[in-house]
Amino acid sequence: MHEETIVFERAADIAGLEASGALRGSVAQFAQARGPNLIRRTEALDAWCRLRAAHGVWQYARALDGAPSPESSVREEGEAASAASRGVNFASQDYLSLASHPAVHEAARAALQEAGPHSAGSAILLGNSRLSLALEQALGTLLQCEHVTLFPTGWGAAFGAITALVHARDYVVVDQLAHASLRQGANAATRNVVLHRHLDSGHVRELLAAIRARDTENGILVVTEGLFSMDADCPDLPLMQHLCREYNATLLVDVAHDLGALGPNGSGSLGLQGMLGKVDLVMGAFSKTFASNGGFVASASHAVKRQMQLFAGPHLFSNALSPVQAACVLESLRIVESSEGEGLRDALLRNAMALRANLAETGMRCIGVPSAIVPLWIGNEQVARLAGRTLAREGVFVNAVEYPGVPLGAARLRLQVMAGHRPAQLRQGARMIGAAVSGAGAALGVEPARQPWPRERARG
Ligand SMILES: Cc1ncc(COP(=O)(O)O)c(C=O)c1O
Repeated sequence: MHEETIVFERAADIAGLEASGALRGSVAQFAQARGPNLIRRTEALDAWCRLRAAHGVWQYARALDGAPSPESSVREEGEAASAASRGVNFASQDYLSLASHPAVHEAARAALQEAGPHSAGSAILLGNSRLSLALEQALGTLLQCEHVTLFPTGWGAAFGAITALVHARDYVVVDQLAHASLRQGANAATRNVVLHRHLDSGHVRELLAAIRARDTENGILVVTEGLFSMDADCPDLPLMQHLCREYNATLLVDVAHDLGALGPNGSGSLGLQGMLGKVDLVMGAFSKTFASNGGFVASASHAVKRQMQLFAGPHLFSNALSPVQAACVLESLRIVESSEGEGLRDALLRNAMALRANLAETGMRCIGVPSAIVPLWIGNEQVARLAGRTLAREGVFVNAVEYPGVPLGAARLRLQVMAGHRPAQLRQGARMIGAAVSGAGAALGVEPARQPWPRERARG
């Protein structure tokens, strides 16, 4: 990160950028490309991405040099041969900074020695290890859900859980802002998928009542997240579970972003809302707090585990979590539940609140509640792209999120905080981010902080 003076782009450069067309358009316009040749019809999207890259407004598919840490070296896509730029990193998800914890590294080394680098089989065949079995047990204890099934990714856990349980005649009622893995799982399982308004349990009740008024024969799965990944907000879990009981529906909560990073002992939103052991199905990912790829589904029912083992494709037909991954998660889990973990969570929350306060001082608008995810609302994609370009050039790495990560017109800079960020990085980073966003808005004639965000629009 450079000194606090941000180098604003010259008006002529902005005019050139606007004229190039690199700020216009969206991935959405390429989603259903037409034409008989499946390969040829992908070319328009690639050309549009190249145009953006040529003008520095393609901040995707970047690569880290070294471990994810509060200060990192980053390469733009396709720049393997050139020097990486170094700066403050708000774009990695390593919430408790466990990816660089010596005990996690030692656990990985020991597992490599004990069991080798991979699982060499699906979990239903011979892919389990002493470490993966111990991990299932430890997770079950933390969640107070005895029966845990592991998956090679969190994506696979979400998709696998839904497709294993829901059949063509069943229904899925899912939050409109739920992660793509959940929505794609729902759409793969049944055509009866209904989106409910974000966090609106009144709407969930209406939808459940309407379904049950005409169908008492088939199942209903209600799907939500413990902490929403792009909005950093939480549903009322006791009420959601109560509604499910009332209408004979089943609740699935994705705790990918909150487990480990929030709540007593790292028990996440479930622990914070007194719902440990009280939610029908819990699924999560290890990729945010637990220093590894991988995911899980947990419930009180052994029969659910059996269903996952034999019908969840990403569990059954994919190599199991490797012993090294299982060891990293197991050790991370031990730290999460220790007093050291409590200290790391305190540091994370302090950092998140400090970053929000620093951004507010620059006139920026963060949405959601204090957690590792700090979404800076922008709305307009062009402003997000230009601000992202300025920040990358200045050595501040953020994820400028637009469709398909979020709906059209709902762009934001998603900042992810780690326990290891230092106050000076947060202060200086926030100042640079504030300056880049207001500079981009002024250059393009849009006031980002004033743009309404969808929930305000919905409320009128
Ligand atoms: C809410 C949520 N669920 C599931 C996933 C998928 O997890 P993974 O990246 O570990 O496959 C993610 C990751 O982006 C997520 O944000």
